[in-house]
Amino acid sequence: MKRRAIYPGSFDPPTYGHIDIIRRSLQIFDEVVVAIVYNPQKDSFLFTPDERLDMFREELTDAGDRVLYDSFHGLLVDYVDAMQANIIIRGLRAVSDFDFEFQMALMNRRMKPQIETIFLMTGAAHFYTAARLIKEIAALDGNVDGLVPPHVVKRLKEKFAKK
Ligand code: PNS
Repeated sequence: MKRRAIYPGSFDPPTYGHIDIIRRSLQIFDEVVVAIVYNPQKDSFLFTPDERLDMFREELTDAGDRVLYDSFHGLLVDYVDAMQANIIIRGLRAVSDFDFEFQMALMNRRMKPQIETIFLMTGAAHFYTAARLIKEIAALDGNVDGLVPPHVVKRLKEKFAKK
């Protein structure tokens, strides 16, 4: 029986911080599902779910079929069940992440006590990396090299050139 964990998020765009969490998860689990949340009615993301998954794929080719790429709509705990998993992975950076993460983990546990949330700490180099800030900097033509992979830098430039 393969140990499968679900790594959910918006990942708009994927950063080296996210990639770091996936690589750390692969040391613990046999399979990690990168699961992008979407809501067709409400979404105002820069990249489509497929674009975000492609960026992950491009960066994680060496992991082969141990990483699965998917998107979901609805409750995370229902998705975890549907994927026949019982582990949610979330990355933690600073203390500021904790409140929100703690709240979500306990709400998810209340809905489905059999599902466990596991927190992994990002590498120190990624402590201040946040997709929201990366978009803001890229939109203002700032330098985000080293925070996201080069192909993501390129896609950010393309998106903002069109706006
Ligand atoms: O990368 P993010 O935006 O911090 O990820 C948040 C995510 C996707 C984990 C959260 O918004 C989520 O689980 N959304 C699915 C809907 C849901 O289950 N909501 C109840 C959470 S207690």
